[in-house]
Amino acid sequence: MINEVLRVFRELEKKDFRILTGIETGMKHFEWVPVEDLNKYTKLPYAKLEYRLKKLVRSNLVVRTFQPYEGYQIYFEGYDALALNTFVKRKSINAIGDEVGVGKESVIFEAVKEPELAIGDPIPVIIKFHREGRTSFKQVRRVRDHLGEREHFSWIYAARLAAQREYGIMTTLYPKVSIPKPIDQNRHAIVMELAKGSILSKTKVLDPEWYLDEILRQVKLTYSLGIIHADLSEYNIFVAEDCVQLIDWPQYVTPAHPHADELLERDVSNVLNHFYKKYGTKRDLEEVLREIKSEWKPEAGDKAGKEIAGEAGEEIGTETETETDFEEDIKDDFEEDFEEDMQG
Ligand SMILES: Nc1ncnc2c1ncn2[C@@H]1O[C@H](COP(=O)(O)OP(=O)(O)O)[C@@H](O)[C@H]1O
Ligand SMILES: [Mg+2]
Repeated sequence: MINEVLRVFRELEKKDFRILTGIETGMKHFEWVPVEDLNKYTKLPYAKLEYRLKKLVRSNLVVRTFQPYEGYQIYFEGYDALALNTFVKRKSINAIGDEVGVGKESVIFEAVKEPELAIGDPIPVIIKFHREGRTSFKQVRRVRDHLGEREHFSWIYAARLAAQREYGIMTTLYPKVSIPKPIDQNRHAIVMELAKGSILSKTKVLDPEWYLDEILRQVKLTYSLGIIHADLSEYNIFVAEDCVQLIDWPQYVTPAHPHADELLERDVSNVLNHFYKKYGTKRDLEEVLREIKSEWKPEAGDKAGKEIAGEAGEEIGTETETETDFEEDIKDDFEEDFEEDMQG
């Protein structure tokens, strides 16, 4: 699916990106973006526009309707192509490799980035394309609630929101907490360094006590910054020879969240259960939780948490002011992207 996008991506020209951006922008106002509007946005004469649109439809980047008028929508694959194009232009990536993973709500690709000042070896990175709108009905509905008549736009919002939230929190946690270095974010996609080692669930570690301690230490560090992962398990932890790294952050919460304690307890239980089942390593849940919370200062931590949350769009999914503010931010971002893409 996305491999197809990569092949198509290589053949796309500046004018194609302009059309894709035009459809993306138009979708803020229309369920199906009229061809007349694309003509206005792109300043391409109709004949050329039609020719290119036909190609984009054939490549499955966009979809067309003729009823009640000729109009277009972008597909996730078209959106992928726009994000990739931005990453290439910003030099956040230089080459794209294979698909390395499909998560619950994402598609992950290997890529490489030129080293700083072009000295040394290329840096292995991954691109995480969020897919929230497609797979998580609950999340789409949450976003949809305040979208009103722009419901058709919901998957773009949902996936983009998740990517912004994840990138925001990663830049806050890195490098204090052991996570892959965040590099760039655009639309629904994030570029980050390749995690070291392999996923805990697929690995048999030789020194389980050390790894368990190290994971719990990272959970404690995270908590002391006013953050709870909220989806931690053996599937979101990488283990290497000398370190562990926690991944997959878009659903994080702060200790002020109404279910903060339950979420922290679930995170820790998942980890303890994994080590108990696989290695027979025993720990007392209550004791571990007490230790994790021991250095968190509610005033400082809560404040930090709130600031972070404000930046990264906390409380998505509940009725708060932040949501509206955040929606405004996203709209501004679209304008910026459009400008940026048009200049490129
Ligand atoms: N930084 C990374 N380095 C290497 N592999 C990664 C990285 N981030 C994600 N992956 C791979 O992609 C999969 C899905 O990523 P994840 O962030 O967990 O998203 P999801 O929300 O879809 O579970 C992971 O299980 C892992 O195999
Ligand atoms: Mg995951």
